[in-house]
Amino acid sequence: MSYKKDFPIFEKHPDLVYLDTGASAQKPKVVIDAVSDFYASDYANIHRGLYELSEKSTALYGQSREAVGRFIGASSDKIIFTRGATESINLLRYVMAGEFEEGDTILVTVMEHHSNFVPWFDLAKEKGLNLKVVELHDGSLGGDDIVDAMDESVKLVCSVHVSNSTGIEIDVEKVCSIAHEFGAKVLVDASQSVVHKKVDVESIGCDFLVFSGHKLYGPTGIGVLYAQDMNGLPPFHFGGDMIKFVEKDNVEYLDGPQRYEAGTPNIAGAVGLKAAIEYLEGIGMEEVERRDGELIEYAESQLQELGFVDLVGKGLRKSAVSFVVQGVHPHDVAQILSDNNIAVRAGHHCTQPLNKALGHTATVRFSFGIYNEKADIDKAVEVLKEVKKLFS
Ligand code: ALA
Repeated sequence: MSYKKDFPIFEKHPDLVYLDTGASAQKPKVVIDAVSDFYASDYANIHRGLYELSEKSTALYGQSREAVGRFIGASSDKIIFTRGATESINLLRYVMAGEFEEGDTILVTVMEHHSNFVPWFDLAKEKGLNLKVVELHDGSLGGDDIVDAMDESVKLVCSVHVSNSTGIEIDVEKVCSIAHEFGAKVLVDASQSVVHKKVDVESIGCDFLVFSGHKLYGPTGIGVLYAQDMNGLPPFHFGGDMIKFVEKDNVEYLDGPQRYEAGTPNIAGAVGLKAAIEYLEGIGMEEVERRDGELIEYAESQLQELGFVDLVGKGLRKSAVSFVVQGVHPHDVAQILSDNNIAVRAGHHCTQPLNKALGHTATVRFSFGIYNEKADIDKAVEVLKEVKKLFS
């Protein structure tokens, strides 16, 4: 079954081989139509207007929250809409600041994207906390490495689910159960996992989970923060739509997701995200995972067969394959692939601590989406042969 036909970009660019879904996914027609139909037929601001269009728009926004909840196994009152995973993490960094005392530890893994490292680095610096980094062990990172790093001072563990840089999965279920034994909370960055496998917050057992809509075939500017319990944490932004009432000398804030969604939210983004979720549900996440698994296995074997390519990272790859072509800078590889209509990301992938641990400053990354087929990998591999010839 080919899903390419569902994505208008491939009609406009029939020769495009898109291997950069890790950066952002292309959009299926159903998502483009949902956003466009919403603006054309149902648009008004939400929660404010006592007229039909506003009520319709409010209902659609609520249905999007329901869809996100269903998709990750949570009730909708635990879903906060943000601009993206980065904002979700920054929201937590600010609203949780008061939960830490000097000397507390925040644990992050060396596999984090900068967006799940820098906010915690900044908070640790501001509040005199320890930022402890769980390092690779024999080139990989497993639950046991987190066990070894835990102690009573750890209050928060921040772990990526699937690395954007290497595509490798961390056993976050294990991370959560260990962290909870020590009374620490766990934040899971699921930006690259929700796209490739069924993610269920109950079975993971995390306290917080974040992802972006645009990597999940949805629009840009919409993201999700799942919070098992925000426990009365203070608001992030202040303004309209997050208050119970305002008096000159007193303000009371709403509870629930709206407390953290001040101002007019990205309503159309939420509508588009719902369409993206329904598109994936129509295919089935088991099928998505099976297809991706096949593609990754094929890419690994084809790349290894070349004999001049080193795969980067050790462990189970779920979303991407990163590699270096011996003797050729990754930017040169990406440029020549681009000259052949093949889109990949090359560079540090916003994971500089991980790259350093793996001994590379940059890599080339093939990251996969539902529209990719083995033929895409074949084309890319043929170009890599040319690259090697050119630089020999
Ligand atoms: N985080 C995105 C990536 O991995 C942008 O490319």
